[in-house]
Amino acid sequence: MKRILLVCTGNTCRSPMAQAILTRLLQSSATGAEEYEILSAGLSTIDGLAATSEAVITMSDEGIDLTYHKSRQLDTDLILNADYIFTMTGAQRDYLQDKFSDKIPVIHTINEFAGEGDKDIIDPLGRGLKAYQECAYQLKTLLPRVINKLQDLEKPGQNKRKLVIGGDHAGLELKRILIEALEADNYEIIDCGTFSTESVDYPDFAERVATVVLQHKIKGIIICGTGIGISIAANKIPGIRAALCYNLETARLAREHNDANIIALGARMLDDQLAIDIVKTFLVTEFAAGRHQRRVDKITQMEKKCLEGDKPGGLY
Ligand code: RB5
Repeated sequence: MKRILLVCTGNTCRSPMAQAILTRLLQSSATGAEEYEILSAGLSTIDGLAATSEAVITMSDEGIDLTYHKSRQLDTDLILNADYIFTMTGAQRDYLQDKFSDKIPVIHTINEFAGEGDKDIIDPLGRGLKAYQECAYQLKTLLPRVINKLQDLEKPGQNKRKLVIGGDHAGLELKRILIEALEADNYEIIDCGTFSTESVDYPDFAERVATVVLQHKIKGIIICGTGIGISIAANKIPGIRAALCYNLETARLAREHNDANIIALGARMLDDQLAIDIVKTFLVTEFAAGRHQRRVDKITQMEKKCLEGDKPGGLY
Protein backbone atom coordinates (compact mmCIF):
# COMPACT_ATOMS: atom_id res chain seq x y z
CA MET A 1 0.00 0.00 0.00
CA LYS A 2 1.39 3.41 -1.00
CA ARG A 3 0.67 6.38 1.21
CA ILE A 4 -0.11 9.69 -0.50
CA LEU A 5 -0.05 12.84 1.58
CA LEU A 6 -1.74 16.03 0.32
CA VAL A 7 -0.50 19.20 1.95
CA CYS A 8 -1.85 22.74 2.11
CA THR A 9 -1.68 25.40 4.79
CA GLY A 10 -4.77 25.09 6.95
CA ASN A 11 -6.10 21.66 5.86
CA THR A 12 -9.63 23.01 5.75
CA CYS A 13 -10.18 23.69 2.06
CA ARG A 14 -7.74 22.75 -0.75
CA SER A 15 -6.11 19.63 0.64
CA PRO A 16 -9.32 18.05 2.03
CA MET A 17 -10.99 18.63 -1.36
CA ALA A 18 -7.96 17.12 -3.11
CA GLN A 19 -8.03 14.17 -0.70
CA ALA A 20 -11.75 13.57 -1.33
CA ILE A 21 -11.48 13.87 -5.12
CA LEU A 22 -8.37 11.68 -5.33
CA THR A 23 -9.97 9.03 -3.12
CA ARG A 24 -13.05 8.93 -5.32
CA LEU A 25 -11.02 8.80 -8.52
CA LEU A 26 -9.00 5.90 -7.18
CA GLN A 27 -12.14 4.06 -6.11
CA SER A 28 -13.33 4.13 -9.70
CA SER A 29 -9.93 3.46 -11.31
CA ALA A 30 -8.65 0.07 -12.42
CA THR A 31 -5.87 0.16 -9.79
CA GLY A 32 -8.40 0.56 -7.02
CA ALA A 33 -8.28 2.56 -3.82
CA GLU A 34 -6.96 -0.40 -1.82
CA GLU A 35 -3.47 0.16 -3.24
CA TYR A 36 -3.30 3.68 -1.86
CA GLU A 37 -3.95 5.40 1.43
CA ILE A 38 -4.78 9.09 0.91
CA LEU A 39 -4.11 11.52 3.76
CA SER A 40 -4.10 15.28 4.05
CA ALA A 41 -2.55 17.73 6.50
CA GLY A 42 -1.78 21.42 6.93
CA LEU A 43 1.57 23.14 7.36
CA SER A 44 0.12 25.56 9.85
CA THR A 45 -3.16 24.51 11.42
CA ILE A 46 -4.62 22.96 14.55
CA ASP A 47 -6.05 19.47 14.81
CA GLY A 48 -9.78 18.95 14.55
CA LEU A 49 -11.09 21.89 12.49
CA ALA A 50 -13.98 21.13 10.11
CA ALA A 51 -13.65 21.78 6.38
CA THR A 52 -14.92 25.25 5.45
CA SER A 53 -18.62 25.41 4.64
CA GLU A 54 -17.82 26.34 1.00
CA ALA A 55 -15.60 23.26 0.69
CA VAL A 56 -18.41 21.09 2.09
CA ILE A 57 -20.93 22.60 -0.37
CA THR A 58 -18.57 22.31 -3.35
CA MET A 59 -17.85 18.68 -2.59
CA SER A 60 -21.51 17.95 -1.91
CA ASP A 61 -22.23 19.20 -5.46
CA GLU A 62 -19.79 16.49 -6.58
CA GLY A 63 -21.65 13.90 -4.50
CA ILE A 64 -18.87 13.78 -1.88
CA ASP A 65 -19.51 14.17 1.84
CA LEU A 66 -16.82 16.31 3.45
CA THR A 67 -18.62 16.88 6.75
CA TYR A 68 -16.55 14.12 8.37
CA HIS A 69 -13.25 15.97 7.73
CA LYS A 70 -11.09 17.06 10.67
CA SER A 71 -7.95 19.11 10.04
CA ARG A 72 -4.57 17.70 10.96
CA GLN A 73 -1.29 19.49 11.66
CA LEU A 74 1.52 18.16 9.48
CA ASP A 75 4.28 16.46 11.46
CA THR A 76 7.56 14.70 10.79
CA ASP A 77 6.04 11.20 11.06
CA LEU A 78 3.47 11.99 8.39
CA ILE A 79 6.22 13.24 6.09
CA LEU A 80 8.62 10.38 6.72
CA ASN A 81 5.94 7.72 6.26
CA ALA A 82 4.56 9.10 3.00
CA ASP A 83 5.49 7.55 -0.34
CA TYR A 84 4.34 10.63 -2.27
CA ILE A 85 3.74 14.13 -0.97
CA PHE A 86 1.76 16.58 -3.08
CA THR A 87 1.54 20.26 -2.16
CA MET A 88 -0.86 22.82 -3.50
CA THR A 89 1.80 25.49 -4.14
CA GLY A 90 5.43 25.79 -5.15
CA ALA A 91 6.21 27.66 -1.92
CA GLN A 92 4.85 24.73 0.15
CA ARG A 93 6.89 22.26 -1.93
CA ASP A 94 10.09 24.32 -1.55
CA TYR A 95 9.58 24.60 2.20
CA LEU A 96 9.18 20.85 2.60
CA GLN A 97 12.04 20.01 0.25
CA ASP A 98 14.35 22.29 2.25
CA LYS A 99 13.31 20.75 5.55
CA PHE A 100 13.22 17.11 4.47
CA SER A 101 15.99 16.69 1.93
CA ASP A 102 15.70 12.86 2.16
CA LYS A 103 12.21 13.15 0.73
CA ILE A 104 13.00 15.58 -2.11
CA PRO A 105 12.34 12.99 -4.84
CA VAL A 106 8.78 12.38 -3.66
CA ILE A 107 7.71 15.96 -2.83
CA HIS A 108 5.91 17.66 -5.73
CA THR A 109 3.22 20.21 -6.40
CA ILE A 110 0.11 18.64 -7.93
CA ASN A 111 0.57 20.78 -11.05
CA GLU A 112 4.21 19.86 -11.55
CA PHE A 113 3.58 16.10 -11.08
CA ALA A 114 0.66 16.32 -13.53
CA GLY A 115 2.94 17.96 -16.11
CA GLU A 116 1.46 21.46 -15.78
CA GLY A 117 4.68 23.21 -14.74
CA ASP A 118 5.05 25.84 -12.09
CA LYS A 119 1.47 26.64 -11.24
CA ASP A 120 -0.39 26.58 -7.95
CA ILE A 121 -3.78 25.20 -7.03
CA ILE A 122 -5.73 28.39 -6.42
CA ASP A 123 -6.41 29.26 -2.79
CA PRO A 124 -10.18 29.74 -2.42
CA LEU A 125 -10.14 30.61 1.28
CA GLY A 126 -12.20 33.75 1.91
CA ARG A 127 -12.92 34.19 -1.80
CA GLY A 128 -16.42 32.76 -2.00
CA LEU A 129 -18.04 29.70 -3.51
CA LYS A 130 -17.01 30.48 -7.07
CA ALA A 131 -13.31 30.28 -6.13
CA TYR A 132 -13.97 26.91 -4.47
CA GLN A 133 -15.64 25.66 -7.63
CA GLU A 134 -12.63 26.80 -9.69
CA CYS A 135 -10.31 25.06 -7.26
CA ALA A 136 -12.37 21.85 -7.48
CA TYR A 137 -12.34 22.07 -11.27
CA GLN A 138 -8.55 22.40 -11.24
CA LEU A 139 -8.25 19.37 -8.96
CA LYS A 140 -10.67 17.29 -11.05
CA THR A 141 -8.59 18.08 -14.15
CA LEU A 142 -5.17 17.43 -12.65
CA LEU A 143 -5.69 14.50 -10.28
CA PRO A 144 -6.52 11.92 -13.00
CA ARG A 145 -3.13 12.81 -14.55
CA VAL A 146 -1.50 12.38 -11.16
CA ILE A 147 -3.01 8.90 -10.94
CA ASN A 148 -1.77 7.99 -14.43
CA LYS A 149 1.74 9.07 -13.56
CA LEU A 150 1.68 7.23 -10.24
CA GLN A 151 0.56 4.06 -11.97
CA ASP A 152 3.31 4.50 -14.53
CA LEU A 153 5.96 4.91 -11.86
CA GLU A 154 4.70 1.93 -9.89
CA LYS A 155 4.51 -0.46 -12.84
CA PRO A 156 6.68 -3.50 -12.13
CA GLY A 157 9.52 -4.14 -14.58
CA GLN A 158 9.45 -0.56 -15.70
CA ASN A 159 13.23 -0.43 -15.27
CA LYS A 160 13.41 3.25 -15.92
CA ARG A 161 16.81 4.75 -15.35
CA LYS A 162 16.66 7.35 -12.64
CA LEU A 163 18.41 10.71 -12.75
CA VAL A 164 18.24 13.85 -10.69
CA ILE A 165 18.40 17.34 -12.13
CA GLY A 166 18.44 20.86 -10.72
CA GLY A 167 19.66 24.35 -11.41
CA ASP A 168 19.14 28.04 -10.81
CA HIS A 169 17.01 30.51 -12.79
CA ALA A 170 19.67 30.73 -15.53
CA GLY A 171 19.36 26.97 -16.04
CA LEU A 172 15.55 26.79 -16.00
CA GLU A 173 14.92 26.56 -19.74
CA LEU A 174 17.80 24.15 -20.41
CA LYS A 175 16.55 21.99 -17.53
CA ARG A 176 13.14 21.79 -19.20
CA ILE A 177 14.70 20.89 -22.54
CA LEU A 178 16.90 18.19 -20.99
CA ILE A 179 14.02 16.68 -19.04
CA GLU A 180 11.97 16.43 -22.22
CA ALA A 181 14.83 14.82 -24.16
CA LEU A 182 15.78 12.40 -21.40
CA GLU A 183 12.22 11.35 -20.62
CA ALA A 184 11.83 10.54 -24.30
CA ASP A 185 14.82 8.21 -23.79
CA ASN A 186 12.97 6.53 -20.92
CA TYR A 187 14.91 8.12 -18.07
CA GLU A 188 12.94 8.84 -14.92
CA ILE A 189 13.86 12.33 -13.80
CA ILE A 190 13.73 13.70 -10.27
CA ASP A 191 13.45 17.47 -10.64
CA CYS A 192 14.84 19.43 -7.67
CA GLY A 193 13.96 22.84 -9.15
CA THR A 194 14.18 25.71 -9.49
CA PHE A 195 10.72 25.87 -11.00
CA SER A 196 10.39 29.52 -11.94
CA THR A 197 12.38 32.38 -13.47
CA GLU A 198 12.66 34.13 -10.12
CA SER A 199 16.31 34.75 -9.21
CA VAL A 200 17.63 32.07 -6.82
CA ASP A 201 21.01 30.96 -5.47
CA TYR A 202 22.74 28.11 -7.29
CA PRO A 203 24.35 26.54 -4.15
CA ASP A 204 20.85 25.61 -2.90
CA PHE A 205 20.22 23.52 -6.00
CA ALA A 206 23.71 22.04 -6.01
CA GLU A 207 23.03 20.81 -2.49
CA ARG A 208 19.61 19.36 -3.32
CA VAL A 209 20.86 17.46 -6.34
CA ALA A 210 23.98 16.24 -4.52
CA THR A 211 21.89 14.95 -1.62
CA VAL A 212 19.72 12.89 -3.96
CA VAL A 213 22.77 11.61 -5.90
CA LEU A 214 24.37 10.32 -2.71
CA GLN A 215 21.23 8.93 -1.15
CA HIS A 216 19.92 7.17 -4.23
CA LYS A 217 23.28 6.37 -5.84
CA ILE A 218 22.19 7.85 -9.14
CA LYS A 219 23.72 10.40 -11.48
CA GLY A 220 22.88 14.09 -11.37
CA ILE A 221 22.73 17.06 -13.71
CA ILE A 222 23.25 20.59 -12.41
CA ILE A 223 22.86 23.79 -14.41
CA CYS A 224 23.58 27.46 -13.85
CA GLY A 225 24.57 30.26 -16.22
CA THR A 226 28.20 29.18 -16.65
CA GLY A 227 28.10 25.85 -14.81
CA ILE A 228 30.97 27.16 -12.70
CA GLY A 229 29.23 28.29 -9.52
CA ILE A 230 27.00 25.26 -9.26
CA SER A 231 29.88 22.81 -9.86
CA ILE A 232 32.05 24.54 -7.23
CA ALA A 233 29.18 24.29 -4.76
CA ALA A 234 28.40 20.62 -5.50
CA ASN A 235 32.06 19.65 -5.16
CA LYS A 236 32.05 20.88 -1.54
CA ILE A 237 29.98 17.84 -0.64
CA PRO A 238 32.04 14.74 0.16
CA GLY A 239 31.34 11.94 -2.28
CA ILE A 240 30.39 14.30 -5.10
CA ARG A 241 32.55 14.53 -8.19
CA ALA A 242 30.86 17.18 -10.31
CA ALA A 243 32.40 17.79 -13.73
CA LEU A 244 31.78 20.93 -15.73
CA CYS A 245 31.54 19.63 -19.29
CA TYR A 246 31.41 21.75 -22.42
CA ASN A 247 31.82 19.28 -25.29
CA LEU A 248 31.43 15.57 -25.97
CA GLU A 249 35.02 14.78 -25.11
CA THR A 250 34.93 16.38 -21.66
CA ALA A 251 31.66 14.53 -20.99
CA ARG A 252 33.22 11.19 -21.94
CA LEU A 253 36.43 11.80 -20.00
CA ALA A 254 34.57 13.01 -16.92
CA ARG A 255 33.12 9.52 -16.70
CA GLU A 256 36.06 7.44 -17.99
CA HIS A 257 38.79 9.15 -15.97
CA ASN A 258 37.08 10.89 -13.06
CA ASP A 259 34.05 8.69 -12.37
CA ALA A 260 32.06 11.93 -12.10
CA ASN A 261 28.64 11.37 -10.56
CA ILE A 262 27.30 14.81 -11.51
CA ILE A 263 27.57 16.69 -14.79
CA ALA A 264 27.49 20.49 -14.58
CA LEU A 265 26.39 22.59 -17.54
CA GLY A 266 26.51 26.29 -18.33
CA ALA A 267 23.15 27.12 -19.87
CA ARG A 268 24.43 30.45 -21.21
CA MET A 269 27.46 28.79 -22.81
CA LEU A 270 25.89 25.92 -24.77
CA ASP A 271 23.32 25.54 -27.45
CA ASP A 272 20.48 23.19 -26.59
CA GLN A 273 21.30 20.29 -28.88
CA LEU A 274 24.95 20.27 -27.82
CA ALA A 275 23.86 20.24 -24.17
CA ILE A 276 21.58 17.24 -24.84
CA ASP A 277 24.39 15.37 -26.62
CA ILE A 278 26.87 16.19 -23.84
CA VAL A 279 24.50 14.81 -21.19
CA LYS A 280 23.71 11.67 -23.19
CA THR A 281 27.44 11.01 -23.69
CA PHE A 282 28.04 11.42 -19.98
CA LEU A 283 25.22 9.03 -19.13
CA VAL A 284 26.27 6.19 -21.39
CA THR A 285 30.02 6.28 -20.62
CA GLU A 286 31.42 3.91 -17.97
CA PHE A 287 34.30 4.61 -15.59
CA ALA A 288 37.50 3.09 -17.00
CA ALA A 289 38.94 2.31 -13.50
CA GLY A 290 42.55 0.96 -13.76
CA ARG A 291 45.02 3.78 -13.09
CA HIS A 292 42.12 6.21 -12.78
CA GLN A 293 40.77 4.33 -9.76
CA ARG A 294 43.94 5.17 -7.80
CA ARG A 295 43.47 8.89 -8.54
CA VAL A 296 39.80 8.91 -7.64
CA ASP A 297 40.67 7.07 -4.40
CA LYS A 298 43.11 9.88 -3.59
CA ILE A 299 40.26 12.40 -3.90
CA THR A 300 38.21 10.30 -1.49
CA GLN A 301 41.17 10.24 0.92
CA MET A 302 41.38 14.06 0.76
CA GLU A 303 37.70 14.29 1.62
CA LYS A 304 38.25 11.96 4.56
CA LYS A 305 41.10 14.11 5.85
CA CYS A 306 38.91 17.23 5.62
CA LEU A 307 36.07 15.51 7.42
CA GLU A 308 38.42 14.42 10.18
CA GLY A 309 39.14 18.11 10.79
CA ASP A 310 41.60 18.64 13.62
CA LYS A 311 42.10 14.92 14.33
CA PRO A 312 45.64 13.59 13.66
CA GLY A 313 46.08 13.30 9.91
CA GLY A 314 43.18 15.66 9.28
CA LEU A 315 43.62 18.72 7.08
CA TYR A 316 43.23 22.23 8.53
C1 RB5 B 1 23.28 33.80 -12.22
O1 RB5 B 1 23.11 35.01 -12.90
C2 RB5 B 1 24.69 33.26 -12.47
O2 RB5 B 1 25.61 33.95 -11.71
C3 RB5 B 1 24.74 31.77 -12.15
O3 RB5 B 1 23.78 31.11 -12.91
C4 RB5 B 1 26.03 31.03 -12.48
O4 RB5 B 1 26.50 31.33 -13.75
C5 RB5 B 1 27.09 31.07 -11.46
O5 RB5 B 1 28.17 30.50 -11.59
